[in-house]
Amino acid sequence: MSKDKKLIIANWKLNPESLKDAKKLFVDIKKVASRTQKVQTVICSPSVYIAELSKMYSGHRLEVGAQDVFWENKGKHTGELSPTALKSVGAKYVIIGHSERRALGESNTDVNKKVAAALKAGLNVVLCIGESKRDSQALYLKFLREELESALSGVPKNHLKNLIITYEPLWAIGKSADDAVSSHQMHEMYLFIRKILTEIYTKNIAFNVPIIYGGSAEPDNVKELLDSGEIDGFLVGHSSLKASQFNEILKITNSI
Ligand code: 13P
Repeated sequence: MSKDKKLIIANWKLNPESLKDAKKLFVDIKKVASRTQKVQTVICSPSVYIAELSKMYSGHRLEVGAQDVFWENKGKHTGELSPTALKSVGAKYVIIGHSERRALGESNTDVNKKVAAALKAGLNVVLCIGESKRDSQALYLKFLREELESALSGVPKNHLKNLIITYEPLWAIGKSADDAVSSHQMHEMYLFIRKILTEIYTKNIAFNVPIIYGGSAEPDNVKELLDSGEIDGFLVGHSSLKASQFNEILKITNSI
């Protein structure tokens, strides 16, 4: 993961509905992603598509990833996917702790075990944290601190080079650019996350962890967030499902 590139990570969630459609969307994105030198593009597709998609581009500007992973590499765990299995079919990244998984019952302890196992296996981990709402006493900051500290509990500092933190407030997910975080709010969160990382590790390590934003990132708000929010990229949901919109985000980011 190069630190001089911005990260644009697509979270396709449970889309598209077939391998054929996934390949078409991938090809359309590849046309731009393979040419945007200043951007590392990642497509986190449903896991069943990873093996096929990872064969469709041999460079490094576009990589493929998963949206979740289990913490064991083998054993009696029906239905789970291991870090090593994902790696073996071409996944380079994995999203962990997305709010949509936490809503299905994933705990901070589960997230911690997944983060540790995926980093140990050499995957790049896209760790998501985010509050469901803000309150005037700023209790949401305590909540975020807990999410971050517990996710990284026991994670050795030499594994941090493969870690990316996504600030993804639930109140901004699946809406439009107007409902997203403001660049001012984003900058505050950027500093807050850096501060916690510095407390847990060292300043040098903390400053090398990319911090990205997720929650209605669209062509209309990415420039402002990159310019004034001081972020290292985006985790893009609905706008990653239309190649024209996602490619626009890639082009805007590449031009900054
Ligand atoms: P939207 O971009 O659709 O708000 O989704 C954000 C998200 O959940 C990405 O992981």
